[in-house]
Amino acid sequence: MKTDIIKFTNDKKDDKNKLKKIANTLRKGGLVVFPTETVYGLGGNGLDKAACKKIYEAKGRPSDNPLILHIVEFNQIEELVEEIPEVAKKCMVKFWPGPLTIIFRRSDLVPDEATGGLDTVAIRMPSNEIAHEILKEVNLPIAAPSANLSGRPSPTETEHVIKDLKGRVDIIVDGGHSIVGIESTVLDVTVDPPMILRPGRITLEDLQEIDSRIKIDSATIDAKSGEAPKSPGQKYKHYAPKAPAICFGGGLDKIITEIKKNIKENKGKKIAVLASEESYDEYKNEGVHLLLNLGSREHLEDVASNLFSALRQCDEENVDIIFAEGYELRGIGLSIMNRLLKACGGKVVMRI
Ligand code: TXA
Ligand code: MG
Repeated sequence: MKTDIIKFTNDKKDDKNKLKKIANTLRKGGLVVFPTETVYGLGGNGLDKAACKKIYEAKGRPSDNPLILHIVEFNQIEELVEEIPEVAKKCMVKFWPGPLTIIFRRSDLVPDEATGGLDTVAIRMPSNEIAHEILKEVNLPIAAPSANLSGRPSPTETEHVIKDLKGRVDIIVDGGHSIVGIESTVLDVTVDPPMILRPGRITLEDLQEIDSRIKIDSATIDAKSGEAPKSPGQKYKHYAPKAPAICFGGGLDKIITEIKKNIKENKGKKIAVLASEESYDEYKNEGVHLLLNLGSREHLEDVASNLFSALRQCDEENVDIIFAEGYELRGIGLSIMNRLLKACGGKVVMRI
């Protein structure tokens, strides 16, 4: 399949034509990768069974893993859900548009192909401007999982998408860097109390300001709990880089000491270290092959924003082993750790 790469230019007429082309492709059941503030999405018409099926095929994703429907106007939600609980209304007012996905009981309009056969549906209103323009032009709920091949880190740059999906989709829209960098927070309001199934940039603490009873699915941060995660997508090994990765927890001094020790023990191997602004210099003279500074511990939103690019870089450089610094298990730190623990897959050694 030929994939068109489209970039908006700020030439009004030209951009309008591009938008029309994108919307037509989606209406005809085609696939369009578009930027959002979290990660790039692999979009198709969420009300079209065949388009939803194509999304799974393009990603190589198991079809029991449900998709998120993306909307741009509040009134679009009414025909998609059975009811909007009070707590959801408050969350929508406060956090939409933005990186929060909410799970509702679904209406009959939503096909099984979009929800993996579940009687619930995930809906989100992204804040990215290009996503907005596309969703407005097409005026349909767009089903969009992260635009990576299944098992790869979610894409936060157009180059990541091109690498994974060129030749597998009709259009890739180039929107530069995805600023949030980790996928949206997923909140299930069909249970009482509401439960976070996937942590993201909107934190547990943010949501508890709306309803203090909101909980987080403990399986999202405990790779070894043995409990099945409540969100189907969380049970798959995600974001796994090719090399084994080890995440070190505890205070920063202890983390640095442990990582240095492990660098010595692995002498001769191509080592990658995922460091922070505060620790970066500590590893400079340790003979590390790939040393990455994800950002300051004082600004964890930067660390989140750079994380997936860093994991992809480890693959590009074909490193043998990855040592990653851990972060505190609260606020955005908890969302970062959720992704890091997944990146470590079965090979996680969390030393606290
Ligand atoms: O930030 C994001 O959410 C990105 C952008 C493109 O919007 N999308 C994204 O989609 O991350 P995806 O498909 O990669 O992740 C959706 C997650 C999966 O873990 C899935 O299992 C969960 O949401 N999910 C979707 N519908 C659900 C439902 N009805 N019940 C429980 N979990 C659901
Ligand atoms: Mg995904």
